[in-house]
Amino acid sequence: MTIFKEAEKYFFDIYNRFPIDVDRGKGVYLYDKNGARYLDFLAGIAVNALGYAHPVINTAIRKQLERNMHLGPYFVQDVQVELAQKLVSLTSFKKVFFTNSGTEAIEGLLKAVKKWGNQNNKKEIIAFRGSFHGRSLGALSITMQEKHQKNFRPLLPDTHVVPFNDISAFENAVNDKTVAVFYEGITGEGGVRLVSAAMLEAMNKAREKYGFLIIADEIQSGTGRTGSFYYYEQTGLVPDAIASAKGLGGGMPLGAFMVNKRLEHIFNRGEHGSTYGGNPLACAAGLAAVDLISTTPFLKNVHKKGKYFTTLLTELADEFNDVILEVRGKGLMIGVEVRQKAAELMRESFNEGLLFNIAGGTTLRFIPPLIVDNNDIDTASEKLRLTFKKLFR
Ligand SMILES: Cc1ncc(COP(=O)(O)O)c(C=O)c1O
Repeated sequence: MTIFKEAEKYFFDIYNRFPIDVDRGKGVYLYDKNGARYLDFLAGIAVNALGYAHPVINTAIRKQLERNMHLGPYFVQDVQVELAQKLVSLTSFKKVFFTNSGTEAIEGLLKAVKKWGNQNNKKEIIAFRGSFHGRSLGALSITMQEKHQKNFRPLLPDTHVVPFNDISAFENAVNDKTVAVFYEGITGEGGVRLVSAAMLEAMNKAREKYGFLIIADEIQSGTGRTGSFYYYEQTGLVPDAIASAKGLGGGMPLGAFMVNKRLEHIFNRGEHGSTYGGNPLACAAGLAAVDLISTTPFLKNVHKKGKYFTTLLTELADEFNDVILEVRGKGLMIGVEVRQKAAELMRESFNEGLLFNIAGGTTLRFIPPLIVDNNDIDTASEKLRLTFKKLFR
């Protein structure tokens, strides 16, 4: 029986998996057991920011492994503090809470928001249509996509959806009962859509007027992905708190939420916690990853490589202007929206040895390891062009 048949037997049929019997990964490539290799522009959904088996990450993990794997919340260790220190020094936030996933970071922030709202007589949470913040019941309540929510209602009360980039709808939705606005500066699962500068300005103004909290979900757009350490740095809007994960752990399961001074004292002892959150092994990997990614040359390079890739994709869009609607994104978070056959394009590219996936139904999403070089980008673009030719010419 193939591994895929075995998997069908034991697991819920919930994932659209690539038919690769994975052996290992190295750099930007994934290898199957027959030695075939795939150029991986999905990177474990933006997790493998430094690719597979990066020596710096592996060394950090090995070193920590010899000390201890797990301690739990009754202890604190240098790697955890050093990573928190680093994150605070890279941002304007005051406090950090480590989690095991992005969803848990959002979940923790929902609790912080709820308590702050109870103290300030505010309770309405706003999120944008097409958002993706996670799949636990709290995070799902602000994941404003019908397909994700429909079979799981009732969800959290007092959550309101605003159409994406619709400023007047946003202005109508906010009032002095608004406790928080959750947003992704660039949507991930929603299809690599950028919140407009005008919308960000409207959010900023409304915060000044009503005093609510602005929470940025940087789970996908963060840790160097867009050419700055966090994407919000490229916008005029500084959020009150952010959720981070994916690339943060350099491949290990690590998330975090960070808050500014408005929320720094929000939790009393015992009001929030996690057995695994801030696992030392994950923090050691995270510290190594963040140290590498957060340097100015590294981030500048992400920006440059993103520009290069965007130029090639724009050329492709000119050649196939009957199919490609738009190329958009920042740094190495790039979407190519197509009129048709998104799934076929993904499948055919897989046959060519290139991995990416579809976001928002019609957008080819490219979130390669941040260590890709221009040759890898050339190869990916060539493979993609071949696929377009096969399907459309
Ligand atoms: C923007 C965003 N928020 C939240 C999540 C949920 O994170 P996780 O799957 O680590 O729980 C994701 C995952 O894709 C995401 O892209």
